[in-house]
Amino acid sequence: MATVEIAPTGAAGADALALTVTQPPRGDSLRAVDDRLGGRLARLGESGELRGERGEALLLHLDGELEAPRLVAAGVGPRDEVDPDALRTAGAAAAQALSRVGGTLVWLLDESLPLPLPEQAAALVEGAILGSYSPGRWKAADETSPLERIVIGHADEPALRQAVERAAIVAEHANRARDLANMPPNELTPAALAERAQELAAEHEHLRVEVLGPSEMRELGMGALLAVGQGSRNEPRLVILRYEPPEAPAGLVLGLVGKSITFDAGGLSLKAPQGMQDMKGDMSGGAGTLYGTGALAALGTPVRAIAALAAAENLPGGAAFRPGDILRSASGKTIEVVNTDAEGRLVLADALWYVRRAGATHLLDLATLTGAMELALGDLYGGVFANDDAWRDRIVEAGRRSGDLVWPFPLHPRFRRYIDSAFADLKNSSSLRQASPALAAEFLHEFAGDGPWAHVDMAGPAFLERSRGDYLRVPGGTGFGVRLIAELGRSLAGGPAS
Ligand code: BES
Ligand code: MN
Ligand code: ZN
Repeated sequence: MATVEIAPTGAAGADALALTVTQPPRGDSLRAVDDRLGGRLARLGESGELRGERGEALLLHLDGELEAPRLVAAGVGPRDEVDPDALRTAGAAAAQALSRVGGTLVWLLDESLPLPLPEQAAALVEGAILGSYSPGRWKAADETSPLERIVIGHADEPALRQAVERAAIVAEHANRARDLANMPPNELTPAALAERAQELAAEHEHLRVEVLGPSEMRELGMGALLAVGQGSRNEPRLVILRYEPPEAPAGLVLGLVGKSITFDAGGLSLKAPQGMQDMKGDMSGGAGTLYGTGALAALGTPVRAIAALAAAENLPGGAAFRPGDILRSASGKTIEVVNTDAEGRLVLADALWYVRRAGATHLLDLATLTGAMELALGDLYGGVFANDDAWRDRIVEAGRRSGDLVWPFPLHPRFRRYIDSAFADLKNSSSLRQASPALAAEFLHEFAGDGPWAHVDMAGPAFLERSRGDYLRVPGGTGFGVRLIAELGRSLAGGPAS
């Protein structure tokens, strides 16, 4: 956990200073530093080694010219295009350039950038914390050293302090979610996930957790969630978190549901081996939900929330559920299984029902639901489907502000006939190779109850095969959903929901 500070003379004891560089590399704040460096930066600019491009980071060793032994020059691109994304990317590039160093990083802010200082500092801190994350915690010796201290070299002001502290809390929670997604499925079973939730709840006065196992689920009639988990010795769990801050507005309960398949082999409708190891990340919706809720609690966001992690392991085997099985969900609706690899919607069906029954007024589910969503949007955007335009717009806006980007996709009653079953109320997949993200969303719609509901299919941005080149620069979990939920909480605390 990196600490953040604001200190005008914070450079003392720093392992590195960092400054942002625009493209082309000009400006008063650059010149002020370069005067003390005898024009080294200008010469690097002339030779083309320092260009100021987004994502570029140049590490210079110093010899007493400045207060630290190193300087990182982090590019942010053209001055009039600098936005939070450019600054997050610069923060992460700087952190990565220092990954063998760690320790204390001091940021020198550029007051002339077209962005309020609190926003600038928050984005740099967020990027530095995300960029300092290493997925190599299972190596005998991880050669990277995380940043320990990030200092904003500026006079302390309340708005600046608030912004960087918030950014640090949110980014740390995103990194915790990444850790969960990166955990191998032999370590992160549904029961282990439930323990993580219990640990998180113990950190916060107003956060409580309740864990349901197979017998509690049977009592509630959760035949869909139970079926998905029945093929594994690692039994399913439904993890419920309740965040009840004092002074939360009455009449609004945010309901969050996260798909938490700790490993998705596809079940008897077995997946191909290629890339199957990445299906340890099929609990990323749950990780985002868990640490998004944790971020709400850590920030003290005055919004009530109830979150459910629908956790199971989807394996083939003698006890596994089968194509042809007809399941009775907790809502009473029956589901014909035609593909055991369409398991996410089954576990979500029972969890959505639970959260709505428990009093959620506004629902949001996060799920790595369909491969086709990744084909459509790649690793940058999730797709959002909703039964309420105002609720959907609020989520799109929270995504835009937070960096967890989502883009609208359609629900339509005529999609429903594709999942009509001859035997049961509906089936869990269609045989046509068409609109699979929308059919999955239409399936969930059946279990969302009355009131606003939105579904984010985050199959693309949840888990990376390689660096995205921005502030997510390593493979594996991205923590998608944490920043979205934190921003949605801020938005809901600020005004009526719809
Ligand atoms: N977890 C997968 C979806 C997925 C694929 C997420 C790739 C991330 C990357 C999901 O459970 C699944 O298998 N979906 C099927 C549904 C189909 C059988 C209707 C799919 O998309 O192929
Ligand atoms: Mn699947
Ligand atoms: Zn899955």
